[in-house]
Amino acid sequence: MSDWQKILDTIAEQVRPLSAQGRVATYIPALSRVPSDHFAMAVATKDGEVFTAGDADVPFSIQSVSKVFNLVFALDLVGDDLWRRVGREPSGMGFNSLILLEVESGVPRNPLINAGAIVTTDAILSHEPNWAEIFLAKMKQLSGSDAVKYDEEVFQSEREYGDLNRAIAWFLKAKKNLVCDPTATTETYFRACSTAMSARELAIAGRCLIDESEAADHERLQRVRAIMRTCGLYDAAGDFAFRVGLPAKSGVGGGILATQPGEYSVAVWSPALDQKGNSVAGVRALELLTDMV
Ligand code: DON
Repeated sequence: MSDWQKILDTIAEQVRPLSAQGRVATYIPALSRVPSDHFAMAVATKDGEVFTAGDADVPFSIQSVSKVFNLVFALDLVGDDLWRRVGREPSGMGFNSLILLEVESGVPRNPLINAGAIVTTDAILSHEPNWAEIFLAKMKQLSGSDAVKYDEEVFQSEREYGDLNRAIAWFLKAKKNLVCDPTATTETYFRACSTAMSARELAIAGRCLIDESEAADHERLQRVRAIMRTCGLYDAAGDFAFRVGLPAKSGVGGGILATQPGEYSVAVWSPALDQKGNSVAGVRALELLTDMV
């Protein structure tokens, strides 16, 4: 048994009970029905090894974790022009807040809040009208798994309860920061949020963020990770940096993807969330990991 395996098993045992301290997301029925006691953790190392603990092969809704992949893909497609349309500062607000968007004339604070992810999706869509299909194909390729899919029930719920995101998109359009049809943009955004994959698949896909400095896109990945560090856990990003210190991105499905640059990618999943929408057991698991590794 490798050290990694021992570490993950120890963490899983310690953090599982913490799910009782949180609540699963309830904004859509499809997520409110997920049992709160799931726990999964997977580490994918730069050398190609994968270690897991718990329910690492159970697919879950990655939700906002998709925003970080979308950002990487957008920078590949449109390059630094993206930064004309979206900022790079933490918002200090909830992920779906409209307040700053009005004050700052339709330029979202960063690509990892809903407004910023909608602008990022729009920037991609203006180059790739079939982005939903391409995004899924890329996620399958990065994770090396054909099982990655869009969860149809989650997608339909996102749509049904998506008025706030639609409001954000139409507001962006009014401020001339949305090029495509707002409906097409939000539909594509909802698709990415509905991506279902396991912790094992997510950790493997997250290897694209590990980066070993000789890579051509080193500088770009450093920038993506800087945004993850400062904005990846929304208005809890400061506390997460204090406790864990890794660039990371959370989602309301209870998943968190983090990376130790040059070393490993780690995915955790536990659906019970704290008040800011981050997985209670997931954050604690990552805190223990960085203490132990
Ligand atoms: O768009 C939304 O508001 C939901 N699909 C939730 C996205 C999300 O995961 C935000 N997260 N922490």
